[in-house]
Amino acid sequence: MKTLEELSREYQCLKGSQWHNYMVMYDLLFTPIREKVMSILEIGIAEGTSLKIWQDYFPHAIIYGVDINVPKNVTGDRIRMFEGKQQDWDFLKQTMDKIGPCDVIIDDGGHILQHQLCSLLYLIDWVREGGFYIIEDVPETNLKFWEFLTMHMAGISQGKLEQIPIFTGPITESILGFRRKKGLLE
Ligand SMILES: C[S@@+](CC[C@H](N)C(=O)[O-])C[C@H]1O[C@@H](n2cnc3c(N)ncnc32)[C@H](O)[C@@H]1O
Repeated sequence: MKTLEELSREYQCLKGSQWHNYMVMYDLLFTPIREKVMSILEIGIAEGTSLKIWQDYFPHAIIYGVDINVPKNVTGDRIRMFEGKQQDWDFLKQTMDKIGPCDVIIDDGGHILQHQLCSLLYLIDWVREGGFYIIEDVPETNLKFWEFLTMHMAGISQGKLEQIPIFTGPITESILGFRRKKGLLE
């Protein structure tokens, strides 16, 4: 079975080591749960490259994507896409009512702080126990804010949320987020 880094090179995905280098972190986080993940949602589809990678990587998962412009030519037996804004709670509610809780949620959408915050605050409750919520491409200038917020949220979650280590790639943008503790996946 191929690693995410290998799949990234094959599909020329920007999450791979040629650019952001996030896949090294994702390989560490996701390898232990690879066979158990049943659903993953990514905000931000673009041409669908990462959705295809998730489909190849997680053999049993349905892959959901959300974007303001859903591409017409992305196909895949286990890929489902929804058109709407990540900051629109009505849209997120309608979507999550259809999808149900997810094992992994990744925000690779518009990368605007307020929008990332809107999505996080609505979607964090839709992460299954043992699953991950990850925000990509956090610039250095916003890192302190996110560090504080995620620490605070972990603190007030009564042990339900655990921060994942901040990982900064070679071009100084970071990924960060939570793992929902005590899980079905463990
Ligand atoms: C970096 S691309 C996603 C790349 C994709 N995840 C990949 O790795 O192949 C960002 C995408 O977010 C979408 N986007 C921008 N603003 C958005 C918003 N407010 N809500 C949802 N999607 C948004 C854009 O249309 C674009 O397709």
